[in-house]
Amino acid sequence: MEPPEMINAGELVLKRWEPEWASEALAAIEDSLPELKQFMPWATDGYDLPAAQDFLVKSREGWEEGTQFNYAIFTSVGELVGSIGLMTRMGPGVLEIGYWMRSPYAGRGYMTAAVEALTRVALTMPGIERAAIKYDEANIGSGRVAIKAGYVEVGKEVREVEAPGESGTTIVRERRH
Ligand SMILES: CC(C)(COP(=O)(O)OP(=O)(O)OC[C@H]1O[C@@H](n2cnc3c(N)ncnc32)[C@H](O)[C@@H]1OP(=O)(O)O)[C@@H](O)C(=O)NCCC(=O)NCCS
Repeated sequence: MEPPEMINAGELVLKRWEPEWASEALAAIEDSLPELKQFMPWATDGYDLPAAQDFLVKSREGWEEGTQFNYAIFTSVGELVGSIGLMTRMGPGVLEIGYWMRSPYAGRGYMTAAVEALTRVALTMPGIERAAIKYDEANIGSGRVAIKAGYVEVGKEVREVEAPGESGTTIVRERRH
């Protein structure tokens, strides 16, 4: 059970992260730190090249183990604008989608397009019945992306707050075939 290494998403393309893209990943994250650190616990002021390299090593391991499938998101002219991935951590039959967008490119509908394309792929993988998105209730932008991509709320979870923008309530949304 493995998704394709490249996925077309309209004017965007999703490509499996390559280990040699660490400095590009770092530049995209540095551009976006004020927004990312509100909701992504790993995004801190100390984020550096070794951290980006570690993300890419873990992405390769996750892909090889079949537990997570992370993609860089590019525009048609090759700008790296974000990251999106599938995770198996919710258990059999469901793939969870996680994402972040490079801040100067936010608000253009890019993440919605990437989520729609990756959802289509996820729901055609063998044994997968549902795709899921989890986000903190305070993360209005992430919620809009999930809603626009057709995900419906199926529950709420109370979680420990891990990043400064979080409320501690996680919304769970899902999409089926
Ligand atoms: C959430 C995120 C991925 C959205 O990416 P994007 O490419 O801007 O998404 P889109 O342009 O497809 O859609 C964004 C929607 O959120 C809305 N939005 C974004 N920030 C908002 C805010 N603070 N308040 C209200 N709406 C907001 C936009 O208006 C748009 O909705 P609309 O089309 O109804 O107007 C991006 O903001 C991001 O990376 N945030 C930080 C990391 C993060 O939170 N990741 C998700 C963790 S669950």
